[in-house]
Formats: sequence, structure tokens, C-alpha cells
Amino acid sequence: MCSVIQIFEFMTLLDGLTTAQTIKKRIQTEVAERVSVGKRPPHLAAVLVGDNGASQTYVTAKVKACEEVGFKSTLIQREAEITEQELLKIVHDLNENPEIDGYIVQLPLPKHINELHILLAIDPSKDVDGFHPENVGKMALNLPGFLPATPYGIITLLKEYGIETEGKHCVVLGRSSIVGLPVSILLQRNTYPGNCTVTIAHSKTKNLKSVLQSADIIIAAIGKPAFVTADMVKEGVVVVDVGITRVPDDSRKSGFRISGDVDFQGVSVKSSFITPVPGGVGPMTIASLLLNTLQAAK
Ligand code: GUN
Repeated sequence: MCSVIQIFEFMTLLDGLTTAQTIKKRIQTEVAERVSVGKRPPHLAAVLVGDNGASQTYVTAKVKACEEVGFKSTLIQREAEITEQELLKIVHDLNENPEIDGYIVQLPLPKHINELHILLAIDPSKDVDGFHPENVGKMALNLPGFLPATPYGIITLLKEYGIETEGKHCVVLGRSSIVGLPVSILLQRNTYPGNCTVTIAHSKTKNLKSVLQSADIIIAAIGKPAFVTADMVKEGVVVVDVGITRVPDDSRKSGFRISGDVDFQGVSVKSSFITPVPGGVGPMTIASLLLNTLQAAK
């Protein structure tokens, strides 16, 4: 059961932190059971290229989560100057390594590396990010495969809170292949959570404000801090904020704070459910990656 934190009279916080902890406990128990009957723990590898601060933070969090649930993890770090051929060699080695159940190549990659070449080289049976076209196709056709971690985390959060989705108008803000596109596919499927009427809004969308105002559910994934404001949403809207942008903030030791795509203060007053940032989608993404890795190990 998920925790329900009621802040205002009508608004419930979609607590990704607590929900993810519950999922991680379930995974930990299953791993312990597997190990107790002589199986080896699931093993996730993460490839991190360059010194992108945000990517370093995410990958560190993924490795730490592996430790928490009893997985083995391997971090492969390379300089930004690595060639595409060298990175492809790492990918091929991971494909061939029987000790590795699943792995991720953290995105974005440096500009001189073609991300598609790398994604296509990943063995789909180890593609726990669900980014390989074979897994994207399976997702679209509702066939078993790996779901991309962030969309998987979003639908799990909607499910854990029993949010009604059937017949609802869901506006997905952003069409990235990591979040916007896959979450729009998942929410239109004939299942629960799903059966939404989905609109994908993007940089060329006209009358964005009126599109958003007609939404029962908003998934905001454009990476623009506090872009969605209270005047753009209707009363009772369900808001999932995927944004995690670093905004300069001199009052913080780190020199920045994390901002979502939604102006939480204003929008939360009109929402029935809303995710906080941080503590919403982020932890759910990591829990979903662990679920995929456990699935790969099985
Ligand atoms: N960059 C931003 N999100 C993700 C993710 O879920 N997986 C990988 N590999 N890179 C990312």
C-alpha cells in the first residue's frame, strides 16, 4: 500500500519516494530468496561517458540502489573523448558477458557519438532501459519486453494510487524517446493504467494553453523549469512532473537546486494528485530499472 499524504483539502501528493522504497523492499526480499537457493544476485552494469554532472548523479543513484536491494553492479566510466568504436566494443563485451544480466548506457552521449548506433548494438535481452527499437516495438504492441524506466515508473505510480485513467484526456508535454513518446504509448493501451485519450504536445503545438486546460492528466517532460503554471490547468487535474533541471541557486551549498517542469506552488492548489520534485518520478525511475534488471536475471 502506498502512503497518502494529503496537503490541501483536495490534493494528494504522489509520493514516489515512499512508493519506490516499497518496491525496493519487495525486490530485496526476492533477491534474498534467490540467493538463498544458490542463485547469484542480479547484476546491472552502467556505462557513463564524460563528466555531465546530472548524468553522474543519476548513475551514482542507480548504483547505490543496486546495493540497497542486494544486486551486484558494475560502473564503467570513460572520458568524453572515447571514440564510437571504443564504446561499441564495450557494448559488445557487455552483450557477451554471461555475468551481466542487464546494462544501461547513460544518455546523453557526447556529440561525436551517434546514440542510435550504440542503442542498436545493445542486446535487446539485456536492454533494461528499454531503448532498443525491438523493445520499443514490443511496448507499442503490448508484448512482453522491457519498458523504459521513467514511463514504467509513471504508470506504476498512477496504479499504486489507483488513479482513474480510462477515458481521461492525458496531455503529454514533450515527445522525447526516453519519456514523452513511450509514456504516450503506454497510456493509450487497452489496459490499466491506460485507455486514455492522449495528446502529445511539443514545441510546434499551437494553443498549448488551451490544450493543457483540457487535460485531466498532464505528464510534463520538457525540461523547462516551472513551465506549467496554475492558469494553464483545470481544477482536479492529475499532474506528473518529470522535469529535473538544475537551476542556479546561491543559497544552496551545491550552487543549484532541482526544478520540475511544473510550478508546484501554484499548480498543486488546483490538482487532485501531483508529484513533487524531487521525490516523485525520479525514485520511481530507479525502482523501475531495478524491476527490469530482476526480470532480465530471471
Ligand atoms: N538519461 C536520462 N534518463 C535516462 C535513462 O532513463 N536511461 C539512460 N540510459 N539515460 C538517461
